[in-house]
Amino acid sequence: MAFRVLVLLLLSSLLAHSIGLGVAKSVPAIPDHNPCLDLKEYQYRPSEELPYGRWSFPDGFVFGSATAAYQVEGAANQYCRGPSIWDRFAHEFPERIADGSNGDVALDHYHRLEEDIVRMKYMNLDAYRFSISWTRIIPCEQNRPSICVPFFFFFWVELDFLQFVGLEPYVTIWHWDTPQALEAEYGGFLSRNILKDFEDYCDFLFKEYGHRIKRWITLNEPMVHIQRGYDEGLFAPGRCSVWVNRACVAGDSATEPYIVAHNLLLAHAAAYRLYETKYKEQQGVVGITLVTFMYLPYDSNSTADIDAVQRSLDFNYGWFLDPITFGRYPRNMVNLLGSRLPTFTQQESDMLKNTYDFIGLNYYTTYYSKNNTNVDPLHLRFGSDSHAITTRTYSEFVTASNRWVPSGSFCILTGSDCFWSTPKTHMEITIFT
Ligand SMILES: *[C@@H]1O[C@H](CO)[C@@H](O)[C@H](O)[C@H]1NC(C)=O
Ligand SMILES: *[C@@H]1O[C@H](CO)[C@@H](O)[C@H](O)[C@H]1NC(C)=O
Repeated sequence: MAFRVLVLLLLSSLLAHSIGLGVAKSVPAIPDHNPCLDLKEYQYRPSEELPYGRWSFPDGFVFGSATAAYQVEGAANQYCRGPSIWDRFAHEFPERIADGSNGDVALDHYHRLEEDIVRMKYMNLDAYRFSISWTRIIPCEQNRPSICVPFFFFFWVELDFLQFVGLEPYVTIWHWDTPQALEAEYGGFLSRNILKDFEDYCDFLFKEYGHRIKRWITLNEPMVHIQRGYDEGLFAPGRCSVWVNRACVAGDSATEPYIVAHNLLLAHAAAYRLYETKYKEQQGVVGITLVTFMYLPYDSNSTADIDAVQRSLDFNYGWFLDPITFGRYPRNMVNLLGSRLPTFTQQESDMLKNTYDFIGLNYYTTYYSKNNTNVDPLHLRFGSDSHAITTRTYSEFVTASNRWVPSGSFCILTGSDCFWSTPKTHMEITIFT
């Protein structure tokens, strides 16, 4: 199919820095905003020759770094920001967070904005992708976008400063931090009521910032939000079937993941159509960021495992990509889920078709996939609905070996983990798509 892919290669700062080695050109002008910045700290120091660099990528390839508001901003209770589902989850269930921490301060990005931006500039990046905190637009318990003056100030400073140093903003509208007020009122993305509120929020952003921001990403990795938040109960809002995770106070891992995905898809389409009909003259692009692993058959001679690869891709990636391209879910999902999968009306299906100017694709690694011959019909959940078992190494299947997936042209050692990333696999996914 004709398919427009914008690969947003989200590099760890380590990788970004490494790739920047040896290609420093002009050092940006020293900003006079903040005289306390010690810029020497940010200057990179070439340390070794690498076999790859910017020259390994096509002209126009954009290097950037990315954040999510809740992960970095802090200032959680300041400047009329209301709580999101992540504030509530982290504060109400600290035992469900690895170190019991929360995002009240996080990386204090809200107060270290200029320093952070300068740091990115000195890493030789071209772009900064960040998300807007919906709860800074809807402060406190209000449900409608309203102007929050300190946020306005922050955001204008941010845009000015990015422009000043020459980093292009890529803005994510929703990165998992649904306002808690909407979660409490009607269940957030479990309810169709969210569609109107999300559209109002987008309308506000396009109207106020659309002349400065030309690259909009409606949603970030809806699959992970759903898997962790509604199937496993590990992320906010922490819902799942109690047999999956006893920490879950409410939820249903067999049905809620599909309802939430359905409403997220409709919300995405509403935002795209809104921009198309009302803000076209701003000449920006609107897309979505999805995530998928690539999958290889565990036994490349087994038809069962080859089919399992297709199902794994459908349940992670086709789940979102098919509706926004064709206006329908992947056939494998329809067949396996029956009435648990919501349906689109004809009008919704038409509204969903071709709702992207680009696809952002977050890619981490490749997994093996294997037919699951042992699905328990009495314990249905998103996590096993694809009837595929996936693993990163053979060792989880065959204890004697520890063979990594043979994909990836380089491997960067980050602590104890091995992070595989390769343009080749991006290509494989694109070809599959
Ligand atoms: C697949 O079958 C071929 C031919 O029988 C064999 O050479 C190969 O080792 C098999 N591969 C696997 C992964 O079992
Ligand atoms: C895959 O496993 C299922 C049981 O979950 C089984 O019914 C099916 O026949 C298997 N597929 C193949 C191609 O063997």
